[in-house]
Amino acid sequence: MASLKLGVLISGRGTNLQALIDACAADAFPAEIALVVSNVGGAAGLERARKAGIHTLVIDHREFESRAKFDEAVASALETHDVGLVCLAGFLRILSKAFVDRWRDRIINIHPSLLPAFKGLHVHERVLEAGVRITGCTVHFIRPEMDEGPIIVQGAVPVLADDTPETLAGRVLEVEHRIYPLAVRLIAEGKARVVGDIVNLPALDAGDGPLLNPGD
Ligand code: GRF
Repeated sequence: MASLKLGVLISGRGTNLQALIDACAADAFPAEIALVVSNVGGAAGLERARKAGIHTLVIDHREFESRAKFDEAVASALETHDVGLVCLAGFLRILSKAFVDRWRDRIINIHPSLLPAFKGLHVHERVLEAGVRITGCTVHFIRPEMDEGPIIVQGAVPVLADDTPETLAGRVLEVEHRIYPLAVRLIAEGKARVVGDIVNLPALDAGDGPLLNPGD
């Protein structure tokens, strides 16, 4: 099977990028990272990519007179590298509707909650304030509205009595690192397809059954 070419967009530390780098290095993984773009020059994720021998590009949004021009520069870099799937991994810029439409069903994001709950920022603080017992993370195709779009994979994480936003973020992040490569693999294998407003998945093993918190 031909390898799906990924373009990963980052702004920061890039631990999800690292999870994708590690997955792509494994035998028979059906995708490879063709390009990493950061809008922040000093992003630690850039070093992760360089270490792995991946082509990197800094496209600093502050050097563009409009969002449209910045998006255009990102899109043309992705096209130059023949990218088939764009992966947002801690990319802190809102992309224009024109960009998202151009990459429709070929651009995905990871968000640290069980969408559609807890869209936006400061997720773990809000999860704790709301007193929910189970949270998690989501990989989804993106739409112009923030944190909207067909869901590909979710991972559930119990909220513990003594959790702080930091401890919870850490446990959710570990699951993010599992579900992002999984979502990429399902797309690359042609198993995760958008039909209407949702992703159609073949019957896949859903693991060990329900996660109860507290358990019974
Ligand atoms: C992750 O929590 C991800 O869910 C969110 O931004 C964070 C990025 O972290 N979209 P990293 O840069 O991948 O470590």
